Amino acid sequence: MRYLTAGESHGPQLTTILEGVPAGLTLLAEHINTELARRQKGYGRGRRMQIEKDEVNILSGVRHGKTLGSPITLVVENRDWKHWTKIMAIEPVEEEEVKRKVSRPRPGHADLNGAIKYGHRDMRNVLERSSARETTVRVAAGAVAKRILAELGIQVVGHVLEIGGVRAQHLSYSSLEELQRVTEESPVRCFDQEAAVKMMEAIDEAKKNGDSIGGIVEVIVEGVPVGVGSYVHYDRKLDAKIAAAIVSINAFKGVEFGIGFEAARRPGSEVHDEIIWNDTEGFKRRTNRAGGFEGGMTTGMPIIVRGVMKPIPTLYKPLQSVDIDTKEPFAASIERSDSCAVPAASVVAEAVVAWEIASAIVDQFGQDRMDVIKENVENMRRYAREF
Ligand SMILES: Cc1cc2nc3c(=O)[nH]c(=O)nc-3n(C[C@H](O)[C@H](O)[C@H](O)COP(=O)(O)O)c2cc1C
Repeated sequence: MRYLTAGESHGPQLTTILEGVPAGLTLLAEHINTELARRQKGYGRGRRMQIEKDEVNILSGVRHGKTLGSPITLVVENRDWKHWTKIMAIEPVEEEEVKRKVSRPRPGHADLNGAIKYGHRDMRNVLERSSARETTVRVAAGAVAKRILAELGIQVVGHVLEIGGVRAQHLSYSSLEELQRVTEESPVRCFDQEAAVKMMEAIDEAKKNGDSIGGIVEVIVEGVPVGVGSYVHYDRKLDAKIAAAIVSINAFKGVEFGIGFEAARRPGSEVHDEIIWNDTEGFKRRTNRAGGFEGGMTTGMPIIVRGVMKPIPTLYKPLQSVDIDTKEPFAASIERSDSCAVPAASVVAEAVVAWEIASAIVDQFGQDRMDVIKENVENMRRYAREF
């Protein structure tokens, strides 16, 4: 499976075309809209999230609530477009009509490198596409992937572990359902209620200071059979694909699986997961420090992946930069931005991880038809149990 996205932040719409989604998958607009709404929530988001309620239009590839196997086109309109028809006009406009030209690059954003790379003197041409508004349709694509996984009994849950240095401490959930239920109710998508309060205080503080803060999100996937992905070639390693997907999210700068970077500090005997066996489940690991991967393949244990999001670059608090027209230094001051988007980013992380896993499963277990894929996955689960 693969997908492309297109669309500018203040253009008429965002579009994604998904290719290779198997036939026979139940897919309704509401499955996607639920995920779009989750992305728009979260303490610390700015005004745009309140103006625009994202809704998907499914324009191809689905008939009577089932996928056809043909490309699926998903469109999300930008409701704000009506205020941008001149600024973002497709047809040429007079030079003096171009308002909100951007000549002041923000440190930490794509503005300056993008302008130099593509030869743009108006950096709106860069920021309209480098903006995380694009993650809207990545979440839409992820919603389709989640539908595939749900039909195969695979659960994906994302949550927030850390914001602005405040770390969740009490993570004593007994199931992924509980983790999901609790974090869904939390304005910062955090399981630990005490930490959540402190995270919101940290966001308030950052906002008051005209600053922004980042954090760490975690995605857990349960129910993936053993052996998805492969050790035989670098571009078939599923952990590598997931790592790339996480770092491809705007503002994500690092990724780890299981105990992650902590593995550098421990001896091997405290890193590797001992292998055990019983006649009902077959082979298992006593622990899951590897986070569900060995040799680029799933171990059958839960996949645990974390991503680090840096603070949002658009700040009210001035950071020095240089105007590309006048070459004069200036202190950036900006009208509107979020102070923290980590909770929303955890929804994006879920989406991109779900896509990579669904894509690997479809590739490995049958490609064309959901019913065949389901049967093949079941066979693999049985085979692994009896191995
Ligand atoms: C959900 C989400 C929302 C974001 N919102 C903003 C924002 O409001 N303002 C901003 O400057 N950056 C925001 N970002 C981050 C920028 O898009 C990102 O830093 C920028 O594209 C530069 O790319 P890089 O940080 O990956 O190098 C957001 C990122 C995510 C994932």
